[in-house]
Amino acid sequence: MTTTILGRKIGTTGYGLMGLTWRPQPQDIEKSFEAMRASLEVGCNFWNGGEFYGPPDYNSLTLMEKYFTKYPEDAEKVVLSIKGGIGPKGPDGSKEFVQSSIDNCLSLLKGTKTIDLFECARKDPNTPIEITVAAIDEYVKAGKIGGIALSEVGAETIRRAAKVAKIHAVEVEVSLWAMDIFSNGIAEACAENDIPVVAYSPIGRGILSGEIRSPTDIPEGDFRRSLPRFQGENFLLNMKLVDALQEFAKKKGCTAAQLAISYLEYLSKRDGNPEIIPIPGATTPSRIKENATQVTFTEEELSEINSILEKFDIKGGRYDHHHAPLLNG
Ligand SMILES: NC(=O)c1ccc[n+]([C@@H]2O[C@H](COP(=O)([O-])OP(=O)(O)OC[C@H]3O[C@@H](n4cnc5c(N)ncnc54)[C@H](OP(=O)(O)O)[C@@H]3O)[C@@H](O)[C@H]2O)c1
Repeated sequence: MTTTILGRKIGTTGYGLMGLTWRPQPQDIEKSFEAMRASLEVGCNFWNGGEFYGPPDYNSLTLMEKYFTKYPEDAEKVVLSIKGGIGPKGPDGSKEFVQSSIDNCLSLLKGTKTIDLFECARKDPNTPIEITVAAIDEYVKAGKIGGIALSEVGAETIRRAAKVAKIHAVEVEVSLWAMDIFSNGIAEACAENDIPVVAYSPIGRGILSGEIRSPTDIPEGDFRRSLPRFQGENFLLNMKLVDALQEFAKKKGCTAAQLAISYLEYLSKRDGNPEIIPIPGATTPSRIKENATQVTFTEEELSEINSILEKFDIKGGRYDHHHAPLLNG
């Protein structure tokens, strides 16, 4: 199945680039090229990266520049969404900073690839969203980038932003252990404005695959170790949900990661929901192929999944106390 962004066809499942550069020990670049190529082979051509996913000399943009220099024919196949707008002191949505962030991303790409969507990773609490969106829109109108997306924003911000310019996507955390958008007004605001939701961390940053069995399975220095859901007692209690979902997946004959991703795709445009495009991240062609394989559910199976979700409360916040105030901004 395909959908469209900016009038371009994209696969139902996208591809998150974060883990290729932003982790304690990124894999060899050639391995990442193999993963990226594999994502295109299975139709996952909506790629999602960030200016700050890794250090200045090895982040999504520098990786893209190297990839598209090697495979220039792939540039037109990919619809690329890039996050920026994070200054030394945190989110900066001022016109000057946002435009300098876009300029930096474009210069890192060295003309090898266009930026199809640009988004500020977090709303700057000190700058009205109207200013930020108007600043990005100047670049759209000048033909420097394709369009505008929003990231980790709340319902009111979505509505205000949509009055200023066309918003092509809203990127928020959505997964079987992060279903908040369906009750906090975000899904509703997106549906109302016909904006697709880009579901980030759809495998719950890996936990919903069932392959992480203990907090120590996460490498030292990995960002996930700082997240309340992955710590101590919370982790143990949250594993009950993971185990129940894994058991369901086993019975269904799919993997737990496939269940996590396909469930979100199933919710897309159903019961008043907006379109939902999950962007799982993975480093190997086999995982990418696995994640791109859609599973369909009967109504009975869906009720079963929903009753599993109702049975377990998720323990711990999505982010630590330092990052949490910026969520749903
Ligand atoms: N807007 C935001 O604030 C924000 C925040 C976070 C993420 N994002 C975006 O969302 C994308 C995806 O999020 P994410 O990487 O945090 O979480 P995710 O997609 O839920 O999970 C990725 C993790 O799951 C593992 N994994 C992937 N497929 C698997 C499979 N089939 N079996 C077992 N394990 C599997 C990956 O391992 P390997 O990588 O080791 O293969 C990685 O550790 C990111 O790349 C980024 O573009 C956006």
